[in-house]
Amino acid sequence: MHLKPTADNTIVLKSPREIAIMREAGQVVADTIRILEAEAEVGMTTRDLDEIAAHKFKEVGAESTALGYFGYPGHICVSVNDEVVHGIPGPRKLKRGDLVKVDVAARYRGYVGDSTHCFAIGGLDTLSERARELVQVTQEALFHGIAQARPGNRLSDIGAAIEAHVKVHRMNVVRDFVGHGVGRNMHEAPQVQHHGPAGRGPVLRPGMVIAIEPQVNLGSAQVRMLEDGWTAVTVDGSLSCHFEHTVAITADGPDILTLRGDRD
Ligand code: MF3
Ligand code: CO
Repeated sequence: MHLKPTADNTIVLKSPREIAIMREAGQVVADTIRILEAEAEVGMTTRDLDEIAAHKFKEVGAESTALGYFGYPGHICVSVNDEVVHGIPGPRKLKRGDLVKVDVAARYRGYVGDSTHCFAIGGLDTLSERARELVQVTQEALFHGIAQARPGNRLSDIGAAIEAHVKVHRMNVVRDFVGHGVGRNMHEAPQVQHHGPAGRGPVLRPGMVIAIEPQVNLGSAQVRMLEDGWTAVTVDGSLSCHFEHTVAITADGPDILTLRGDRD
């Protein structure tokens, strides 16, 4: 979500019963992403991906939380190559070697799951070595951030871990967007920065549920918005990658509600 002045700082804690329902919502999102990755191929449009997601939501009785959000016109966001976030599905045809980010958020049984996956059309082998590194480093950075999502840590420990990993690989974390609390609403307090010093912000407690979603650019961290009012692209045209998971903080540590497989 866009970094913005906070209206309500209250972090709503979720009970174990609510977290169980949120895992169901998270798994609807995870299943949708699995289908999108499996079906995406050369010649399809980003709107085709939107329709696949819309169909899946309908089938299981979920609803997109992107559609109608401040007038957003898609069921999901599909951002390609230098597009960072909030790409609007449309007539753009996917090509071999395109780096595609699908951001899927849906409400199911009253709770929201939010996750973003990045993949290449034709497989990661179609990418340059540096682009493959970008994908790997971004996903690793997300998991380094998730590892910090445990009781007793401070909120900013998450972003500090993400940024540290990205910097080692001489890539840049986008600062214009933040992760967020998630629950009955897609965007709740707190905002989760993906950069900055550790040891700041609220102490993490069991029952907090947050979406962590670093965007990483091969070039400059700067982004600009296209004339459509939604699509953010890198200012220098460099490639951008984005991964996101919805994570519950439990006494035992982070519990990833949108996990697809054992490791991602
Ligand atoms: N899932 C996105 C996020 O958390 C939001 C998509 S809604 C949109 O930032 F309207 F902004 F596309
Ligand atoms: Co999100």
